[in-house]
Amino acid sequence: MKTNIVKEQFTIKFGSPAGWVYASPGRINLIGEHTDYNGSFVFPGAIDKRVVAVIRKNGTGKVRVWSVDLQDYAEFSMEESDLPKASWARYIFGVCREIIKRGGRLVGFDTAFAGDVPLGAGMSSSAALESTYAFALNDMFSLGIDKFELARIGQATEHHYVGVKCGIMDQFASLFGKEGNLIRLDTRSMEYKYFPFHPQGYKLVLLDTAVKHELASSAYNKRRESCENAARVVRENGYPTVEFLRDVTMDMLHEVKDKLSEEDFKRAKYVVEETSRVLVVSDALERDDYETVGRMMYLTHEGMSRLYEVSCQELDFLNRIAKECGVTGSRVMGGGFGGCTINLVKDHLYGTFLEKAQEQFARQFGHEPKVYEVVISDGARRVC
Ligand code: GLA
Repeated sequence: MKTNIVKEQFTIKFGSPAGWVYASPGRINLIGEHTDYNGSFVFPGAIDKRVVAVIRKNGTGKVRVWSVDLQDYAEFSMEESDLPKASWARYIFGVCREIIKRGGRLVGFDTAFAGDVPLGAGMSSSAALESTYAFALNDMFSLGIDKFELARIGQATEHHYVGVKCGIMDQFASLFGKEGNLIRLDTRSMEYKYFPFHPQGYKLVLLDTAVKHELASSAYNKRRESCENAARVVRENGYPTVEFLRDVTMDMLHEVKDKLSEEDFKRAKYVVEETSRVLVVSDALERDDYETVGRMMYLTHEGMSRLYEVSCQELDFLNRIAKECGVTGSRVMGGGFGGCTINLVKDHLYGTFLEKAQEQFARQFGHEPKVYEVVISDGARRVC
């Protein structure tokens, strides 16, 4: 990782000695997509790609930040009115603001950071950045904030300073990740359980289409609105205890079908079905039944493509090749609108699958998809 480069550049920019070093990872998600803002379940794991930051208090009221990857500098006070112009700096500003709103006392600091979580690939580079700073500031300033609240600080940063009304999955995974384990999280109760994930005879691999949808955040927020609207309509029509789509069954949804737009109905149907798929997968994992896991992944892809409409032709193309090659499970991962597919592949098919996917994708779209083998790793920590 880039720790030494970040330390070096910190020293060049801000003078020695370098401060403390913190890191927080990106994540994968086995199944349970767009369920986290519906009070339902997700199944993420932290990965071996992360953001690394060097931080040192500077004795002023200002935060001075150097982005090693962008070779760009930002400086801000932590007043609400001092929102930085650079969008990348808003993540750090937002984390500071959200800590202060919760009563945390911060003073100025100098920091340099870099990351190797691919941007816009569905691996949560932004949550890795938020979690790095939430974790670091909490530790450095001895604020005593628990990790759940640190995750909420990252999420609130997205809501208030980035404009994405995301759920809690990404920040949670980045903070709670554990080497070799996926985590089943109930996003309503925040109860979670680690599932050791060492599928004998299989590999987990991501194929990155490199497609980035410009309007992804507004499309994401629109999906969330549809879900909240559908849950409200069910609640107001005979089911007053319904809080989220998590509480809704297909029968209930059909009862209110004529009160919903076709679009909202499709979105809600996907979420109701996805919720039951996560539970099927967690049972299957207890039995090492990866065939069932894979079947559910394909169904998720179909739902995300046809009902939730967050796939794209490049992702559908990779999904189809996976199916043709006999890959056990494959689907679009993360928010969608581009990014990666996650694939559960039997060892003996791995080489052929990658070859075919790369060759056929390149022939169709003019470039090969990037390949990332997944290593499930620990969450946020102080490095040194
Ligand atoms: C993004 C959001 C998450 C989650 C996923 C889809 O990664 O940040 O909260 O909603 O999309 O599952």
